[in-house]
Amino acid sequence: MSSAETYGRGLTLSPLTAAERAMVQVGYFGLDGLDTLLPEGLSYDSQVMVTGETGIGKSIFAAQFLYEGLVTGDTCIYVACDETPDTMRQHMAGFRLGTIAYERIGQLLMVDAYGRELSRERRIVPEPTKLDEFFVYLKQTVDEALAAHRRVRLVVDSLSTVMAVNTPTDCIEFNSHRLRYLRSHRVLTLDNYVAGVLDERTMAGLSHAYPLIVRLAYHGAATERGRYIQLGKLKSGMFSATERPFTIDPRTGIVVR
Ligand SMILES: Nc1ncnc2c1ncn2[C@@H]1O[C@H](COP(=O)(O)OP(=O)(O)OP(=O)(O)O)[C@@H](O)[C@H]1O
Ligand SMILES: [Mg+2]
Repeated sequence: MSSAETYGRGLTLSPLTAAERAMVQVGYFGLDGLDTLLPEGLSYDSQVMVTGETGIGKSIFAAQFLYEGLVTGDTCIYVACDETPDTMRQHMAGFRLGTIAYERIGQLLMVDAYGRELSRERRIVPEPTKLDEFFVYLKQTVDEALAAHRRVRLVVDSLSTVMAVNTPTDCIEFNSHRLRYLRSHRVLTLDNYVAGVLDERTMAGLSHAYPLIVRLAYHGAATERGRYIQLGKLKSGMFSATERPFTIDPRTGIVVR
């Protein structure tokens, strides 16, 4: 047996007591400038749609959201659809967000919905674009996470990749079932969508199911492409949105100004 295997033995995540669970009612994104726009925090039965074009920073945003969950005691699930889980591990390590200890104790569950038969991960979705199958694997992992009686947060990066080969009706129906399930199990969910993969009508249809929408985008001319983040909220039937500029710092990730 290798020393790595020996080292990981016997470590498990103990369940929280009811009193400990009651201490934290809401979560945060983990980004100061964005969290101030949402002083009431994120309820664990809410879902966030994140959109933005390739390279804008959605996966980094997801990394910081996961890390916020880890340091506040949540069990976190990351479903990697566009890149390997290792890419996310490296992303997080690059931003000084180490994942190894959290994975060892079962507080961070990585799901590979990218590598298929070549994957060497423990949790694999072999055919993620089959929506029913995707949902079955997702529920299995959520059940595993809920077994520790902690709050659970989930990231799917990105859902547009999973949906791309399916019809708009199937996508919307699948997502509405999925979100209902996640809401009823109080899984704080962040779904990334790469802009331009699904057509506008499908995106509009999907967006209605999310109480919070985060849009990452560029503004200004191509030569000075500043990034901004927009937080859209649906409250009492009214949609309001606020915009803030952000940068990506090589050490700390997204910094919202
Ligand atoms: N260490 C770093 N320092 C500064 N910027 C970085 C660093 N790592 C990545 N970036 C920036 O972050 C961007 C990539 O972010 P990210 O991978 O989160 O994009 P994405 O929106 O998830 O893209 P995709 O849709 O292709 O997955 C790169 O374009 C790069 O500008
Ligand atoms: Mg990405």
